[in-house]
Amino acid sequence: MKRKRTRAAAAGILAAAALLPLGGCAKEEPEASGKNYIGVAYYNQSDTFLNELLDSFRSQLKDMQGGDMETVVMVRDAAGSQRTQDDQVKELISAGCDILCVNLVDRADPSEIIDLARENEVPIIFFNREPVAEDLMQWDGLYYVGAEAEQSGYMQGELAADLIETDSQVDRNRDGKIQYVVLEGEVGHQDAIIRTETVVEALTDRGIELEKLSYQIANWNRAQAENRMEQLIGQYGSQIELVLANNDDMALGALDAYKNMNYTEAAYPVVFGIDGTKAGLEAVMDSEIAGTVYNDKEGQAGAMARIALALLRGEGLEDVEFQSERCVYLPYEKVTKGNVSEYLMRSR
Ligand code: BGC
Ligand code: CA
Repeated sequence: MKRKRTRAAAAGILAAAALLPLGGCAKEEPEASGKNYIGVAYYNQSDTFLNELLDSFRSQLKDMQGGDMETVVMVRDAAGSQRTQDDQVKELISAGCDILCVNLVDRADPSEIIDLARENEVPIIFFNREPVAEDLMQWDGLYYVGAEAEQSGYMQGELAADLIETDSQVDRNRDGKIQYVVLEGEVGHQDAIIRTETVVEALTDRGIELEKLSYQIANWNRAQAENRMEQLIGQYGSQIELVLANNDDMALGALDAYKNMNYTEAAYPVVFGIDGTKAGLEAVMDSEIAGTVYNDKEGQAGAMARIALALLRGEGLEDVEFQSERCVYLPYEKVTKGNVSEYLMRSR
């Protein structure tokens, strides 16, 4: 890989950068050369799914790199600001990172980051928050690792349909329709928009009659979901028969609301999530969440590590299974109480 700056220059910048407060990452600052630096920039460090994905990335990278190579991972949290992330990417490139893994804050606004990476010839592996195809086409040093949002929503709908068809208790008021609410992720996030659409599509395809009571945006966040759910419960009370959450954290937030408002368990509606985070899987195990859809963080982290190492070594990229050009999409999987233990073991 050709680089415009020398290692020595990078080390100088690193020494200076090490003096700056960098949000808890200071101990990761490189001080010697001979190692390979991977910069990771992600949209928000309060995101449960991404924290679990990044833990898996670090450990798989270590397992895969072999004795001939040493990688150092430097992580930056954008705290929800694209401008902050642009600056962090600049800083990571100046610090001598050979590869970047970027989880965009605003997936529609990667142009500054792409320009910086291309000028400095630092490849980017985007992950989880998918840039639009035209942006990914801008340079052949750009990759994406994620999953197909359609599939996750559709599977969530199938899980809900399976339960509704077999358990007549779900339709509490016995009117032949399922009254439901949706807890949505972020506005503009591919996984939020598409999951909400396809979950309803799957239920309708199965001939289930639905009545949408309302929806609330809770930005993937458990506390926000709890708060929004309290509002929904205040408005609709026991009319709510089904809660469809775009992710597990929001499904758990919905349950928190019922607990807080002192509902008895028998009065809870059925709740479905997506992700299979540790807490989500445990809630499925405890029958608090009726089911979830596994967002394969180990598979995604593994693909990121494989691409990063291949780029660093300058070989092995042909072993990565790209579905479309430079993009890897890992399949989702349905999780119920019947198979949850398998997933609890997988996400060590
Ligand atoms: C996950 C969410 C996560 C979001 C972050 C989604 O794919 O399901 O849990 O908050 O990505 O971008
Ligand atoms: Ca009903």
